[in-house]
Amino acid sequence: MNLVLLGPPGAGKGTQAVRLAEKYSIPQVSTGDILRKAVKEKTFLGVKAKSYMNSGKLVPDELVVEIIKERLVENDCENGFILDGFPRTMVQAEKLDNMLHTEGKRLNKVINIKVEDDLLIKRLTGRRICKDCGANYHIIFDPPTNEGMCNKCNGELYQRDDDEEDTIISRLDVYKKQTEPLIRYYEKQDMLATIQGNGAMDKIFSDMCQAIEGSM
Ligand code: AP5
Ligand code: ZN
Repeated sequence: MNLVLLGPPGAGKGTQAVRLAEKYSIPQVSTGDILRKAVKEKTFLGVKAKSYMNSGKLVPDELVVEIIKERLVENDCENGFILDGFPRTMVQAEKLDNMLHTEGKRLNKVINIKVEDDLLIKRLTGRRICKDCGANYHIIFDPPTNEGMCNKCNGELYQRDDDEEDTIISRLDVYKKQTEPLIRYYEKQDMLATIQGNGAMDKIFSDMCQAIEGSM
């Protein structure tokens, strides 16, 4: 099962991808997570990507396409994957189609998560992430039991560099200009399911599972 999660920053792609990965036993492939790890480790990729990410711009297509090319041929992707945050431009979408075609594969479903801008800003400014295990929290919508501390591993929670309000506004703008056209692209291929992303996490998850299973 090869899935893509599409949606603006803060729509809940990461939150839901973790749940889908567990349910369907296929990996979550997040270009954002891969890039943040590279930035932290100061690799060649990380050094190149950092300034784009911190200003809310997209990292150049050739770099992210290469990341995905290498990631999708790993063994754990053999039975499927959940792409979270890729593709984000028309060029990336076309490259993905070619990549899959060469392997005799195709996408099964593209899930578009829809949320209004003012709620996205609230979600992103309140998001906190565990430094050790990467678990996601929200100071109001999904707070940890002990403030600043991860429920799963007691790790310290931090705020992403790009979750400041000014950067969030640029990310939303970039999404509208460069990523939103993909909705039409996948709609035309009859692959798109749009899910309302402003309810409870459990309800959104069950709507997603229904959309996925309904198409199998
Ligand atoms: P990336 O890491 O992909 O960030 P993003 O797309 O901006 O998405 P987010 O991770 O911010 O949001 P999300 O939808 O996963 O929401 P989440 O589940 O965390 O990319 C970061 C940067 O990397 C980009 O700006 C770019 O520079 C670069 N990059 C990455 N991929 C690239 C690509 N393909 N091409 C070029 N550049 C690329 O939820 C948000 C918060 O809301 C959390 O706190 C959560 O707890 C809360 N929440 C979630 N669901 C609910 C709910 N239903 N109710 C209440 N709260 C909720
Ligand atoms: Zn943790």
